[in-house]
Amino acid sequence: MAHYLVTGGCGFIGSHLADALLGDGHAVTILDDLSTGRLENKPARAELVVGDVADADAVRHAMDGVDGVFHLAAVASVQRSKELWAETHRTNVGGAVTVFEVARTIRDGASVPVIYASSAAVYGDNPNTPLGEDCVPQPRSAYGVDKLGCELHARVAWEIHNVPTVGFRFFNVYGPRQDPLSPYSGVISIFARRVARGEEVEIHGDGEQVRDFVYVGDVVRFLMASMRKRPQGAAVYNLCTGRPTSILMLLDVLQELCGKKARRLHRTARPGDIRVSIGDPAKARAAYGLTCRTGLLEGLGATVSWAVL
Ligand SMILES: NC(=O)c1ccc[n+]([C@@H]2O[C@H](COP(=O)([O-])OP(=O)(O)OC[C@H]3O[C@@H](n4cnc5c(N)ncnc54)[C@H](O)[C@@H]3O)[C@@H](O)[C@H]2O)c1
Repeated sequence: MAHYLVTGGCGFIGSHLADALLGDGHAVTILDDLSTGRLENKPARAELVVGDVADADAVRHAMDGVDGVFHLAAVASVQRSKELWAETHRTNVGGAVTVFEVARTIRDGASVPVIYASSAAVYGDNPNTPLGEDCVPQPRSAYGVDKLGCELHARVAWEIHNVPTVGFRFFNVYGPRQDPLSPYSGVISIFARRVARGEEVEIHGDGEQVRDFVYVGDVVRFLMASMRKRPQGAAVYNLCTGRPTSILMLLDVLQELCGKKARRLHRTARPGDIRVSIGDPAKARAAYGLTCRTGLLEGLGATVSWAVL
């Protein structure tokens, strides 16, 4: 049994990870400021430290005695990074650097590994899909720049400070507990709730934008496998399916699952909206012998069941 810190563990992805770690018999501490995370997401057996991930004292307190860190706390929204540029930067880069810095010496003067969330946003609007990790990053948002910054600091963490790191560039993660009421949430959580309730859905542009939707359970399996493998170095992997789904296809599947047709409100395309985002999952598959195996129908089924509760 090991003891892990999950930053952002009251959020969507972090709470699923905390559940799975506890299910495997590990002890879990969560550091979360509850800005978007919810207390009801916290597994009963996890210890919660309410605090800011960019505050070194809070991070040191939460990291005391742990064997490794999953760093997921962030302002997880491109839109928020436009509205609150400096504030999101402080959390998204400042938080990561604080975690890496504390991880250097937390275990009797030695380091612990850090697995952290990067994002497909580092690629920007690159039409050369599927995007491999060697594509030149061209982020188009402060959020994407900050996630790229985390990757660069992670390399410093390893090369200068001996902190092993693994960064995963999550594509569009979906599943139960993704807040359907936040305008900043992923399209699936918003659509699933609205279609299930027979409400209208907003489609920006022609709806032919293509995304790589990855189920949260698959993300958790990769995060746990990467920690089990005892990271050495500063690796970065895509976490994606490699399968394209357009927004209109997504709506069709949701309508079929719910047995309801949603009225569509067509809006103008959002400026800066990325047209196609598909990742190449080969490198992570080779490293961990895993695939994102949950099909869209299965993953959406679980999401809809949760959304109608
Ligand atoms: N959901 C996706 O599709 C997606 C895609 C790419 C990357 N990511 C990344 O995955 C991670 C988890 O995202 P999520 O979708 O679960 O989002 P989320 O908003 O549900 O979770 C983020 C958690 O971090 C906490 N948090 C925010 N600022 C904090 C701070 N200053 N100090 C302490 N805690 C803080 C929030 O309260 C929340 O619990 C983030 O790093 C995000 O950028 C998510």
